[in-house]
Amino acid sequence: MGGAGIRVLAAVLALAAATRCAAQLKQDYYAAVCPNLESIVQDAVAKKVQETAIAVGATIRLFFHDCFVEGCDASVILVSTGNNTAEKDHPSNLSLAGDGFDTVIQAKAAVDAVPQCANQVSCADILALATRDAIVLAGGPTYPVELGRLDGLSSTSTSVDGKLPPPSFNLDQLTAIFAANNLSQTDMIALSAAHTVGFAHCGTFSSRIQPAAVDPTLDASYAAELQAACPAGVDPNIALEIDPITPHAFDNQYFINLVQGRGLFTSDQVLFSDDRSRPTVVQWSQNSSDFEQAFVAAMTNLGRVGVKTDPSQGNIRRDCAFLNN
Ligand code: HEM
Repeated sequence: MGGAGIRVLAAVLALAAATRCAAQLKQDYYAAVCPNLESIVQDAVAKKVQETAIAVGATIRLFFHDCFVEGCDASVILVSTGNNTAEKDHPSNLSLAGDGFDTVIQAKAAVDAVPQCANQVSCADILALATRDAIVLAGGPTYPVELGRLDGLSSTSTSVDGKLPPPSFNLDQLTAIFAANNLSQTDMIALSAAHTVGFAHCGTFSSRIQPAAVDPTLDASYAAELQAACPAGVDPNIALEIDPITPHAFDNQYFINLVQGRGLFTSDQVLFSDDRSRPTVVQWSQNSSDFEQAFVAAMTNLGRVGVKTDPSQGNIRRDCAFLNN
């Protein structure tokens, strides 16, 4: 077989392996061991979000950052130890808000408090469920969550290098990094709409609002608002709502903002500036049910990324922040 043939075979085998893993996830995975799992997690997430609405965006982003590094295996939740710097301490993860981690810890505690369920449910699955519940609590679409992921056995800061998109990415770069996770450009556009909730620090978009060179794709009055909120030398801890129009609602306002030149990151606004993704942005700005349908499909695909289902690859962590033993 020639080189091209081997490459084709390798691609087919990789696809088959990916499909096999995904096929092992199923909605009723815990039906026998923890029949009320969904409502236990839902109640815990609702309680957490009632305490602080910040938990919504924090949890959704945590799931994304988990899945893109070593797959959806809760490896992002592990803490660093004496001789190991974990994923969560990589520069790209330092802005993950503590309330996302706490949402998972609280939900895990609620699950483990039910004797039948104790130590039966993975942190990775609890994060997947909590993410769906956070989206629904913010008014977004509901969807069935596939379950059966095992928790990863390692977490290293170096494994994060190059795996998460910076806000400066253009369309080709965004498409490529999502493709590396078996996600389409349409999935990428849909998932970017998670920026309809949550916060961003001034430093993530400051290069776009330099008075001498304001990004021309940015609406002028929005640029002025951002400059006022994030002047040169601003406290780096200051964060703004990513969607200032409906900051707490999980809706298609994100796409309406993009059409108006009000996307906060370069990676947001490029979805409208680039001819290749603009038609999708325009369509979803006008039709929220089309957006919701695409979003649900994309979240399901995100939840399948690199999942571990073989006991040789993972386990069910007793404490989401620490490896067993
Ligand atoms: C497409 C490429 C993406 C880029 C470049 C990107 C970049 C960023 C950046 C820079 C922030 C601000 C972080 C901070 O300053 O604290 C942020 C926040 C956020 N991102 Fe993304 N992101 C992307 C995709 C996604 C995806 C796929 C999701 C989830 C499905 C997501 C969910 C969120 C959420 C919810 C927040 C707000 C977090 C909070 O309030 O704590 N992002 N993103």
